[in-house]
Amino acid sequence: MTHPFDSEDLPTNPSNNEHFQRVVERAVNRRGFMLKTGVGAAAVAFLSAGLSGCGGGGDDPAPAPAAPPADLLGFSAIATATADGVSVAPGYTATVIAPWGTPLFSAGPGSTWAGDASEDAAAQARQMGDNHDGIHYFPIGGRSDEGLLVMNHEYTNVQYLFTNGVVDSLDDANKDLNAHGVAVVHIRRTAGVWDIVVDSTYNRRITGNTLMELTGPAAGHALMQTTADPTGTQVFGTLNNCGNGWTPWGTYLTCEENFNQYFGTTNTANPGQTRNTNMVRYGLSSGTTQRNYETYFDRFDWQREPNEANRFGWIVEIDPFDAASVPKKRTALGRIKHENAAYAIAADGRVVVYMGDDQANDYIYKFVSTGTYVEGNIANNRNLLDSGTLYVARFNNGATTGDMMGTGEWLPMTTTNPALAAYASQAEILVNTRLAADTLGATPMDRPEWVTVHPTTQEVYVTLTNNSGRATTNDANPRTGNVYGQIIRWREAGGDPTALTFEWDLFVLAGNPTIAQANPLNNGSSNVTANNTFNSPDGLGFDSAGRLWIQTDGNYSNTGNYANQGNNQMLCANPTTREIRRFFVGPVECEVTGLTFTPDSRTMFINIQHPGEGGNSHWPEGGAARPRSATIVITKNDGGVIGT
Ligand code: FEO
Ligand code: CA
Ligand code: CA
Repeated sequence: MTHPFDSEDLPTNPSNNEHFQRVVERAVNRRGFMLKTGVGAAAVAFLSAGLSGCGGGGDDPAPAPAAPPADLLGFSAIATATADGVSVAPGYTATVIAPWGTPLFSAGPGSTWAGDASEDAAAQARQMGDNHDGIHYFPIGGRSDEGLLVMNHEYTNVQYLFTNGVVDSLDDANKDLNAHGVAVVHIRRTAGVWDIVVDSTYNRRITGNTLMELTGPAAGHALMQTTADPTGTQVFGTLNNCGNGWTPWGTYLTCEENFNQYFGTTNTANPGQTRNTNMVRYGLSSGTTQRNYETYFDRFDWQREPNEANRFGWIVEIDPFDAASVPKKRTALGRIKHENAAYAIAADGRVVVYMGDDQANDYIYKFVSTGTYVEGNIANNRNLLDSGTLYVARFNNGATTGDMMGTGEWLPMTTTNPALAAYASQAEILVNTRLAADTLGATPMDRPEWVTVHPTTQEVYVTLTNNSGRATTNDANPRTGNVYGQIIRWREAGGDPTALTFEWDLFVLAGNPTIAQANPLNNGSSNVTANNTFNSPDGLGFDSAGRLWIQTDGNYSNTGNYANQGNNQMLCANPTTREIRRFFVGPVECEVTGLTFTPDSRTMFINIQHPGEGGNSHWPEGGAARPRSATIVITKNDGGVIGT
């Protein structure tokens, strides 16, 4: 598919940004762009870029780009919804599979599900975990009717996980750890119906108690050593597995996000000891935590084991096809509150991994491998993520301030960067990734969530979900008190994912044009309408045809700033025209997150996380049932490609 951004005549010189933008905007569906009254002059330039671009400025030497794929979005948009159920576009069907607690084995602990939270830790270790999040389908033999569904279980809803709603025993703490992590589930479609292959040797739960290996520059460093592991190379468990990624060599990447919430102190081992700079920057609790792990395990009490938290906050690589494989925490990719990971392969074969750190005013990163990917060479590819260079992003306003586009640069996080001379080793930089990035002058963003790379242009899109506390603005984060969020995108210089500079613009400024807005920017950019209004874009991913799927994890009150936005939802965008249509709406008090497709693009899997987190859902069973996070299988009734 030809994409306008692909045109060989596109300039890569940042000084030509205006030209770049014009080329982009030439393809814009002008019906989608409507100026909104009262918008400031600078914002008008952004919102009306399509109009000025199409006005035929005399200095535009670019040939007309290929016709945009106008039929990329073939489905009819749906309305918002507030029901305790799911809605999907006409002609599509959404069914539930693998909710929390689903047994993966027919005998032994966890082979039954009572539905009353009576399962113990041993049972939970062999069932689907809680809070389904990032998800990926690995085909078996390239098949679109049989594969491994691998997904994250980010955190737990203790009010549903336990009969009394709290962690107040050692078994509870272990059950809670076992409801976290990752599930590898063998699934198969028979007579049109997808189901779990119970007892498959592929089926596996990876939990907060699973032994894994620390690899890369920080492995073995003194900062990684604990009483239980003086080698600094082995750690039990992965926690707060949020978004995900995968590699072209067939492995799954699970991303540890808000790991800080599991570390606290009972303040008895060494009264008066305070958190160090690193613990404060990453947000470890100064006291106890909601899940009380510090009461039951020394390793989760930072006074007793100050280095255990350093062994979390990483990206973990898993071989889903070997149930005995040891997951590897790849420290070269940095220690942040990782949202997800999206790769690009450079022309020379180097592997680039893009990553966001989900906290208000934190940063966007990329890793560039030292080695090169060789298709089919397992030995060559296996440890590519252990050596390379980590960069953090700075987003500059560019030639014009206020137009919501600009230039950017990647700042190397290495010991040879003079600005990081205070760090004695790469290991220290990596363990303290956030602090090192602070000193480099990276751009504080409006909570970076998912990253995705366009399948053919390699342009990179990132959701910036919201930042209600933002006080000062820049072009990339243009609103104070940002309650709606935006999606930023960039194009690396020369189309090279390893480049050190890039050009960026905002793909969409989410907003709500159905209510009166004091700040006109809160109406959203011109591709936001009364029919597709949403807040807090989070999950994000391209399908193989280049449709951009946008999932929300936002305010579902349906009132005030969020009136007419309904429950959390999934929309689909045409990156060329910028048109956005609502495709799916989730049940009450959920977020919609994670997306993956079978190779034929005819089955889509997404996740529903924490339905009823506020106590007002019984989805999916209904009645008086406890609500359960679950996977949704979406198919088109005519058997067609999803999104058409
Ligand atoms: Fe786990 Fe930032 O979402
Ligand atoms: Ca600018
Ligand atoms: Ca998320």
